[in-house]
Parts: sequence; C-alpha cells; structure tokens
Amino acid sequence: MRYLVTGGAGFVGSHTVLALLDGGHEVEVLDNLSTGHRAAVPGGTKLHVVDLLDRDATDAVVGSRAWDGVLHFAALSLVGDSMRDPFHYLRQNYLTALNLIQSCVGHGVRKLVFSSTAALFGGPDRLEPIPETAPLLPGSPYGESKMLIERVLHWADAIGGLRSACLRYFNAAGADPQGRAGEDHRPETHLVPLTIDAMLGRRPPLRLFGDDYPTRDGSCIRDYIHVTDLADAHLRALAQIDGRSLAYNVGNGLGYSNLEVIAAVERVSGRKVPWEPAPRRDGDPAMLVADATTLRRETGWTPAYADLESIVRTALAWREAHPEGYAACGAPAEAGFAIG
Ligand code: UFG
Repeated sequence: MRYLVTGGAGFVGSHTVLALLDGGHEVEVLDNLSTGHRAAVPGGTKLHVVDLLDRDATDAVVGSRAWDGVLHFAALSLVGDSMRDPFHYLRQNYLTALNLIQSCVGHGVRKLVFSSTAALFGGPDRLEPIPETAPLLPGSPYGESKMLIERVLHWADAIGGLRSACLRYFNAAGADPQGRAGEDHRPETHLVPLTIDAMLGRRPPLRLFGDDYPTRDGSCIRDYIHVTDLADAHLRALAQIDGRSLAYNVGNGLGYSNLEVIAAVERVSGRKVPWEPAPRRDGDPAMLVADATTLRRETGWTPAYADLESIVRTALAWREAHPEGYAACGAPAEAGFAIG
C-alpha cells in the first residue's frame, strides 16, 4: 500500500513511518519541518517540505499519487502553549487539517488516520479510565482544536466519502527499540524526556507541576503508551477502516503518577533524579487514563511495551546514543524533495 504521512518528521509520525516501512508499505512524508527533523525521516523516503497552510502546495502533494491512505500527524501539540496562545493553536491546527482533508476528498482518498488526543477529555477532573463514549469536554484550546477536526472528519465521511479513524492518544513516550528514532522536541516539555535529562545532569532539576491533585500521591496521573505500540495502532486502524469511520482511545489503561515516573527513571538508570515542587501548570487535568478495550477488541491491538520501565529504558537508550538529539544526525541519504 502507498501512504502519505503528514508530520512524518515528528515524534509519533516518524515512528509510524518506520512501522509502515517495516510492514512493506510505500511511504512519503509531508512536513514543514517547523518542529520535526529532516534526519527523523528514514533515508530513501521522499520528504515534501510543505506547509499545510499552503492550500495549493498541499493539494499538489495529495494529488500527486493514488494514495491508499493518508495519516495526519502534523499539528501543534502542547497543552500549556495552547493556554497561552489559544487563537494561534485553534487557527493553525484547524486550518491545516481543513486544507488536507479537503484535498483528500477532492482527490478521492478513501482512508485517513488522524492523531487525535486524550485532551478531548480534559474537562472537570476524571478519576476513572476514559472510554470513547465519554463526553468530549476539552480542557484546553489544543484539545478543542482536535475536537473541531474530528467534526470536520465526520462531514468528510458523510458528504465526501472519506473514512477516518481518530486515534485519541494518551501520553506517547519511549523510543524505537531498534534505536532508529527517538523523542526530540524543541523546546522539550514532556515529562519522560525531561526527567531523563534531569537525571543525566543535562538540564536543571525537574520542576514537578502540582502536588495537590486529588490523586494517590497528589501529582497528576497519565497513561504512558510506548510510541512503537502507538505506531502499531495506526496500522491496525488503517486495516480496520472498512466502510465506516472509527474513533479509538489509545493507551495502556495503566495510570502512573508524575512521582512514579521519576521513581521509574531512578530504577532503570540507578541514579537519582533531581527535582523540585512547582505550581500547577494551566490546563493539566488530574488524571488521564484510557479505556482502550474497543481498540483491543476490534483490531487485536496488544501493546508490546506496556510497562513504564520499557518505555523509560528505550527513551534513555536513545537519549544516551543521541545526546544532541537529531541535531547531530545530519540529513538522511535521499530525503530532499521540496514543493512550495
Ligand atoms: N510535568 C511536570 N514537569 C514538567 C513537565 C511535565 O510536572 O517539566 C507534568 C505535567 O504537569 C503533567 C505530566 O507531567 O502532569 C505530563 O505532562 P506532559 O507535558 O508530558 O504531557 P501532557 O499530559 O501535558 O500532554 C501529552 C501530550 C498532549 C496530549 C496529552 C494526552 O503532549 O499532546 O499528553 O494525555 F494531548
């Protein structure tokens, strides 16, 4: 099969590109490289350096091949940033998705997998695993932007015949177990890489946001899912879109508190993590844990790296092998193909 992957130079996108290539599929990447890395695109994979806000350039790429499906990862994805700059988030994520989806419908693409988010379920504090049927109450403009896109996909299906799977990711972390890709956000704001870097002495002590949440130890609880398991969910969702659109929550169903993440990094590394208490971060729900039984039942998805240690171990291995992240990697062999 032949797939177009937007945001394929980013964290989850690049790991999904690897999973597609490993599965024997043909892949091209569309990315504006604003947060993604050229070096995260495997050598030999065509990279279209295109901004999805550019409708004509986007349409040219979507119309350039007969795609069996499109996977849409490209987006701004930081809850905290979206609380500071809501209109930028809403505009950027909504308009870029709208351009892509309109082109997909125009060119007769039949399947699209969309990176949605657990942030759809922000709302008031939920202290139970969240099923797909839970009410959508985004607690941040980021979550809201993703919910709006899910609605666009509803109409793209109803009127345009584009079937989709919305995968509502919980907290993606870890790195390719074969060491081919890893996590390198700039700036980095995610708990697992920041905790590892604090432990390695590459950053100041970790600031732990909030210690008075209604959870077992007062810190927030999240459902960490290994990025390779998340990538596998995309392949399964693609296979499952067959005449109907889908929405799945994607997580392990296991909640770990922020303090438990610190403890896991200390266990795996054998070293202390320097950290200090800090005020709550705006937009952070107390607990986000997936009820992913629908995904498991309908697609047979079974996470291979469900435990926090495996997630931390692979993330740490990549970080130790790439202390400067992708910056020191250079461009892969044959990735430069630009439109627009
Ligand atoms: N945290 C800290 N200190 C830090 C960074 C994070 O205490 O320096 C805490 C946060 O406050 C939160 C937890 O660690 O309680 C996890 O925060 P992350 O920033 O790692 O992840 P988020 O839960 O905010 O968001 C991530 C993705 C979103 C996605 C969400 C779904 O970035 O895109 O998971 O659960 F929507």
